[in-house]
Amino acid sequence: MASVLAYCRAGYEADLGKELTEKATMLNCFGYPVFTSGQGYVEYICHQADDADLLGQKLAVAQIIFARQLFVVTDTLESLDKSDRLGPVLSAVQEHDNPDMKNGMLFVDHADTDDGKELAKLCRKFSVVLRQALRKQYCLTYKEKPDCRGIHVFFTGFDECKVGYSYPEARSAHANGIFRLKFPTGAPSRSTLKLEEAILTMLTDEEQEQIFRAGGRAVDLGACPGGWTFQLVKRGMHVEAIDNGLVDDALMATGQVEHFAADGFSYRPQMGRVDLLVCDMIEQPDRVAKLMGDWLVKQWADHAVFNLKLPMKKRFETVTEAISSLKDRLDKLDDKFVLQMRHLYHDRDEITVTIVRET
Ligand SMILES: C[S@@+](CC[C@H](N)C(=O)[O-])C[C@H]1O[C@@H](n2cnc3c(N)ncnc32)[C@H](O)[C@@H]1O
Repeated sequence: MASVLAYCRAGYEADLGKELTEKATMLNCFGYPVFTSGQGYVEYICHQADDADLLGQKLAVAQIIFARQLFVVTDTLESLDKSDRLGPVLSAVQEHDNPDMKNGMLFVDHADTDDGKELAKLCRKFSVVLRQALRKQYCLTYKEKPDCRGIHVFFTGFDECKVGYSYPEARSAHANGIFRLKFPTGAPSRSTLKLEEAILTMLTDEEQEQIFRAGGRAVDLGACPGGWTFQLVKRGMHVEAIDNGLVDDALMATGQVEHFAADGFSYRPQMGRVDLLVCDMIEQPDRVAKLMGDWLVKQWADHAVFNLKLPMKKRFETVTEAISSLKDRLDKLDDKFVLQMRHLYHDRDEITVTIVRET
């Protein structure tokens, strides 16, 4: 049974399952998703044995909204002897080793759920033992090599795990597929982490340099108390913060923020345009997507980063519908745009979208 395994936030399995099915079908890799609601991962079973490897190469985590990590499953090990988990895992890895590709990374993960977190200590300890054993067998490079094939072990219980591999350009580089951030000193809200994660994981270094120039201008719609504005100010930008609420005093004291108590849907930039539009307003996804489209089409903003708040049901359908209308509008322009959508670790019931206008 060939399959790929993808991790997600608990409760989002159905959305990830639909998304994997749609994306795999577009690659002519037919199959079906298997999951239990709340388990924090989905296994996509392929009808054709070779398709799992193809999906492992072609389905980049960065291009899947609801996936945090993805790898090709080669073995499902059950009823492991708790006094010797190493032997069967080592054999499974060796049996499916690819002599043409070096293994440069090892991931020993668990689901991001209460049950999964019980396995964290086991994963940490087991990764030390497995890493040593793999290196001894010349199955893993001595130094970590992020541009090489990765070996994955995903524990689903104390005596069961899935073993597999990933391709460097497709996987997430992070343990459990989670990009952890420290709460920045002085930030006025936890929301600040959503924008920081988006900037660091969804924009390339070149894009960050291009967008966040010192002295550049941004508009923040739904800005209060100022967590997103904080990230922009930190990067030297001048920010028009739009919200009926209050902006954090320390942010106002920087002299880089102008606060306008106005409606985000009718506000227009003070100088006719800005480099970046960000938006975290709690509103219908289609309304927000339309507003973002207006700003980009009318060139009031060069680039945009925004959240789409998700409904309780049909989240994947709602998001794809809202974004496909926006894409249609952008496709008609001479300018080209790079659009990415992700359900980030610091997002709750929302996804983050970045749209970068190419120069
Ligand atoms: C999730 S909070 C934003 C948090 C902010 N990004 C931060 O990091 O601190 C949503 C904000 O959107 C504002 N908001 C909602 N609808 C709005 C509208 N039509 N115009 C302006 N602000 C709006 C609310 O007042 C609220 O402060």
